[in-house]
Amino acid sequence: MDAEVFQSLKNLTHGLAPLVELFQTDPSRSKWLTVEACGIHADFSRQRINKSLYEALIHSVDVVDVQGSFSKMMAGDIMNVTEDRAVGHMALRAPAPSSPLAQQASGQLERAKALADRVRSGAVRGATGKPFATVINIGIGGSDLGPAMVTRALRRSASGPVVKFVSNIDAADLDEALHGAQPETTLIVVSSKTFTTLETMHNAERARQWIQASVPNWANHFVAATSHAETALNWGIQKDRCLEFFDWVGGRFSLSSVIGFPVMCSIGADQFSDFLAGMSELDHHAMNSPTANNLPVMHALMWWMNSALHSFPTVAVIPYSHDLSRLPAYLQQLVMESNGKSVGVDGRSVLGGTSPVVWGESGTNGQHAFFQMLHQGTQIVPVEFVTTGASLGADDEAHDLLFANVIAQSEALAAGRTHSEPHKAFEGNRPSSVLVLDELSPRRLGSLIAMYEHSTAIQGWLMGVNSFDQWGVELGKILAVDAAKAIASGVSEDEQTMTHPLLNWYISIRKKLPRNQ
Ligand code: F6P
Repeated sequence: MDAEVFQSLKNLTHGLAPLVELFQTDPSRSKWLTVEACGIHADFSRQRINKSLYEALIHSVDVVDVQGSFSKMMAGDIMNVTEDRAVGHMALRAPAPSSPLAQQASGQLERAKALADRVRSGAVRGATGKPFATVINIGIGGSDLGPAMVTRALRRSASGPVVKFVSNIDAADLDEALHGAQPETTLIVVSSKTFTTLETMHNAERARQWIQASVPNWANHFVAATSHAETALNWGIQKDRCLEFFDWVGGRFSLSSVIGFPVMCSIGADQFSDFLAGMSELDHHAMNSPTANNLPVMHALMWWMNSALHSFPTVAVIPYSHDLSRLPAYLQQLVMESNGKSVGVDGRSVLGGTSPVVWGESGTNGQHAFFQMLHQGTQIVPVEFVTTGASLGADDEAHDLLFANVIAQSEALAAGRTHSEPHKAFEGNRPSSVLVLDELSPRRLGSLIAMYEHSTAIQGWLMGVNSFDQWGVELGKILAVDAAKAIASGVSEDEQTMTHPLLNWYISIRKKLPRNQ
């Protein structure tokens, strides 16, 4: 998008009437700002937008050629230019795998589904002949957040072994997962696209030692999900336990690949297929619906408008669904690792704000923690309420109360309240969206996740950034290697000038502490 178009859009945000007035002058706004697709009802009417801005934003979708970018993705074009890779996550769940990417993916997915069901049925067992009661996924970032979020969200559909997730290099994480687990009945899944990530490989090694101490053939207790099969095989993973995905699938977009293996172990292959069908249904919707009715496109426009045009620096995602409590963490990586950039695909500085800070916590818990700030603080934080129409627990009245709170909070944010006492007044005009899934089934969750994947990519196209690389995580990784060397040798290097005192302090206290391993 060129600077002139961007500026004209930004100008349209100046002097917007407050939300209360916008509703008074146009009672139909909830109609044109509500989108229904794939069992998701999305109400954007309490966003700070009027008809002129809405029409200009819709036009901007053509300006940046969103549909053209989808077509390029489907054709396997090199969309991730800084890593020279295609961006093929939609091919992972294509209903009829006709493209070469989709064919490559479907074979591996079938292998993963078959293995998961054999683990669940007890056809695949540990080295001493006992069926697996516990599956521990060791992975981080995209190799953890998606499967962990989905496994939790679909826990009502779970019927297989207990599935746990370990990501942190802090030994406490693996310690907690191993607590109560038995080596003879535990299957470890090493999920890592690169099979080199420090945290994952360190934890995998420790898990191997834990298994090896009690079981003769440790490899019977390990599965890998990776795009570097050779590295996994060299590490000792058995060939029939090595599930592959591809360099054209970004880590944070890999949930529909074999990275979903722990989810398959939890809910079974058939229900995982339903999850993929929901994603695919949303893919079809995204590529074939006109802009005004296109859920991921409209969602992306609202998020982009808030970050780039209104310059709101953060967005709070509040799942009013206890089972969706890991959604904010999953979205933090998806959105911030994708769009937290300052230069565009062309290497030049971007025009407006890029990724917002994504944060959040389940409602109603958040109401009793940080909603005070959302209602009366000096910063404006757009809020995304995500909930379900159908009740999730054994108490329908509680669900009605949950939903009532979504309505109350979005109204309080938007309408505010005048009051003679300043500390009891609510300024209002604070934007929010409400997304309602008709139910939290595998299929609907798949659609929701695909919606967020596409919205993230579309926001990236509007910003002009490459949403598919993550160079920003590399420097810290390199410096951690240097710091670890200094700690291990007890000598910090001259180049570590800024961190010298801290390193030396740690080295000195470490010498005085007892060592575990
Ligand atoms: O550090 C960032 C990152 O590269 C993410 O993009 C990725 O999801 C995560 O690390 C884990 O990487 P891997 O799956 O290769 O272990």
